[in-house]
Amino acid sequence: MFGIFLFATANPPECGKEGCWTSQHDKELDQVKILITGSEGMLAQDLISVLGENNEVLPLSKREMDITQKGTVIKNIKSNVPDIVINCAAYTKVDTAEEEREKAFQVNGIGVQNLAVACAEMQIPLCHISTDYVFDGRKNKPYTPFDAANPLSIYGESKLAGEKYIQWIMNKFYIVRTSGLYGRGGNNFVVTILRLAKERRAVKVVTDQICSPTSTLNLSIGIKKLIESGSFGIYHITDDSGNGISWFDYAREIISMAGIRAEIIPVTSEESPRPAKRPAYSVLDTEITRLAVNYTPEKREVALKKFLSTANL
Ligand SMILES: NC(=O)c1ccc[n+]([C@@H]2O[C@H](COP(=O)([O-])OP(=O)(O)OC[C@H]3O[C@@H](n4cnc5c(N)ncnc54)[C@H](OP(=O)(O)O)[C@@H]3O)[C@@H](O)[C@H]2O)c1
Repeated sequence: MFGIFLFATANPPECGKEGCWTSQHDKELDQVKILITGSEGMLAQDLISVLGENNEVLPLSKREMDITQKGTVIKNIKSNVPDIVINCAAYTKVDTAEEEREKAFQVNGIGVQNLAVACAEMQIPLCHISTDYVFDGRKNKPYTPFDAANPLSIYGESKLAGEKYIQWIMNKFYIVRTSGLYGRGGNNFVVTILRLAKERRAVKVVTDQICSPTSTLNLSIGIKKLIESGSFGIYHITDDSGNGISWFDYAREIISMAGIRAEIIPVTSEESPRPAKRPAYSVLDTEITRLAVNYTPEKREVALKKFLSTANL
């Protein structure tokens, strides 16, 4: 049974309080209508197939619904009346954002505000995807949803703006922070490392940024569990890398698993500067997600192996 609950009748404001939520809704359906924004993006591709197994999924691309256009957003949500909206639309060019602050904020801030306003008006829950880059990386153990955000980059700032708008405007939301995504639906670190390793036989990768890479397929499964739960809030969903892995070690793991002989050369972030500053440590703690919705992340190595054996790279 898919436990997304419909909010055909308005819930009282106190419904967001602990414990009162589940007693308030009146309907539970097997099939729900899920509107997915940014539907041509990498995560959206897997989400569409995972959620489409037993739901009506309405994917909308940037051409079909540009989230920066408030009127278009309101019109689309009002005419489609989905049971939930999942926002996969984002400005994701981390380095270019340093030069394109307005564009990044327009999509990741104002675009999300538009979705929040439209969903709140219709009493429709919004599930929004955010990032480990909202943190500054000064911690040396995994970040929980209760840790304070302090982004180092324009991209991180713009994603935090989106999170804030949702919290200011809505009371029925899931904010899902994730990290280092890879999947079949788009370009990513795994694909890039494999390509460079084949082309160049030697690739420089940073040793001093520790992360928790995540397969978009696993993230989609986690998001499905989360939106079935009705337990609104901020969650972290990544694959399980324990206390984290450096991009350097991860690159070595990728080529070794793929059976490619190439040299991965260790460099520091200082030796390999990028326009946007990244957190030195941005592992996300997934304990609360396990406690709230019983989602236990898959081991990074297991997820990577599955991806490499099926991705046709
Ligand atoms: N990739 C990662 O490693 C990573 C890590 C942590 C968090 N995240 C978050 O996870 C989410 C999904 O990431 P992803 O890697 O799947 O991103 P992606 O592949 O870049 O997909 C984003 C999609 O949003 C579309 N889009 C851009 N501006 C839009 C607008 N104004 N209106 C509607 N659609 C718009 C893009 O279209 P165009 O390509 O045509 O612009 C693209 O199809 C994002 O929120 C991202 O911040 C990603």
